[in-house]
Amino acid sequence: MIIEPFKIKSVEPLNFTTREQRQQLLKEAHYNAFLLHADDVMIDLLTDSGTTAMSAKQWAGIMDGDEAYAGSRSYYKFESVLKDLTGFKHVIPTHQGRAAERILCNLIGGSGKVIPNNSHFDTTRANIEFSGAVAVDLLNEVGKHPEITADFKGNMDVEALEQLIVKHGPENIPIVMITVTNNSGGGQPVSMANIKDVRKVCDKYGLPLFLDACRFAENAMFIKMREPGYAEKSVKEIAQEMFSYADGATMSAKKDGMVNTGGFLAMNNDAMAEQARNVLIVTEGFPTYGGLARRDLEAMAQGLTEVLDENYLTYRLRTIEYFGEKLREAGVPILEPTGGHAVYLDAARFASHLTPEQLPGQSIVCALYTEAGIRGVEIGSFMFGTYDEHGAHVAPPMELVRLAMPRRVYTQSHVDYCVEAIINVYNNRLSLPGYRILTQAPLLRHFTATLEPIA
Ligand code: F0G
Repeated sequence: MIIEPFKIKSVEPLNFTTREQRQQLLKEAHYNAFLLHADDVMIDLLTDSGTTAMSAKQWAGIMDGDEAYAGSRSYYKFESVLKDLTGFKHVIPTHQGRAAERILCNLIGGSGKVIPNNSHFDTTRANIEFSGAVAVDLLNEVGKHPEITADFKGNMDVEALEQLIVKHGPENIPIVMITVTNNSGGGQPVSMANIKDVRKVCDKYGLPLFLDACRFAENAMFIKMREPGYAEKSVKEIAQEMFSYADGATMSAKKDGMVNTGGFLAMNNDAMAEQARNVLIVTEGFPTYGGLARRDLEAMAQGLTEVLDENYLTYRLRTIEYFGEKLREAGVPILEPTGGHAVYLDAARFASHLTPEQLPGQSIVCALYTEAGIRGVEIGSFMFGTYDEHGAHVAPPMELVRLAMPRRVYTQSHVDYCVEAIINVYNNRLSLPGYRILTQAPLLRHFTATLEPIA
């Protein structure tokens, strides 16, 4: 029996709306769910980032935070938790993940550089490209097929990595990255064996390996459950082993840090850390707070401890699996198997009457909101689509809709409500219209673009 491993001390009301209201609200938001007011959303599965319900102990830590500008007690607590967990010599707090990415890219990016990853998250890709470097995804073939079930679909294609290094020359590859779990590819885990293999290639060419560690604990729990030799190890030991193969990490603590904001950049290299701290001071803040309130460091220190609780992680992964199971039973196509933080609808099969350019995922996002006030996010042609030199649309490998579960926020009956709504939309899928983009920004267009349904 698996139950929510917490009881609820403080609650917030859900705001109920009618279908007619939601149709109007969506139109006013230009059919972009990022432009909706959160008060008009009933179940918000837009992201698991920064949406965690913090624990009583975290809130107590917030009160106990030491707001000293320099040398805060809260920083030293945060640093010691992270050094114990990751083993990295330098831990630099940042206000969220992309701040760590930006500082890192500032040090190692620039034109002519190539940075591989299993799959770059959109902000990582954007930071790399903004620096003038090229971001390359080297996901294992199996990870690109939503219908195939495998244990570690987040693994990097190690052969492709070596080919890339040979092609561009190791001197042009400043770091190799691995994202755990692989968010853009379905929250799929990376095996310890794969991390070790990537490490070997890095050693062969003298390259540093960095983890994008946003969901390291979920990844470690998958390793415990699925990888031979790890069942008897604690999740903390597994996480420590994962970090031991890396030279550094970026992390958005808004995920497995169990906080509403925060992140860090960590590394072993002294000279690089000094440079990173110098950039931090110019753009984020002093190295013992990095753009955060010091109380946020307390909440992170506590959250990074709580996330390793295996009752929590068992419940966490089971919630997503349960959500996926109910959809699968009703024939709804999802990315298989379910990952750590979200269920991903396979929009290409769900709305197979639409072409990628007609944004099938975005059409499902709009329909779920209208149907039941549920907000998800498209991860497909709207988020990652590009255009070739003739202006023709180039689709990414998958068309997905991500329904990400905030941590410790919703209960099983909320999940059941979502399942019912998704099945209703699926049963009426042939009425889903295509969408066209009216306005868009040059980078990360999905956040602010405006759209309209195609008549
Ligand atoms: N890396 C990964 C794998 C992420 O999922 C995210 C954020 C980031 C980096 C950037 O961190 O938001 O703190 O600056 N992902 C969120 C999401 C936004 O919805 O998946 P950030």
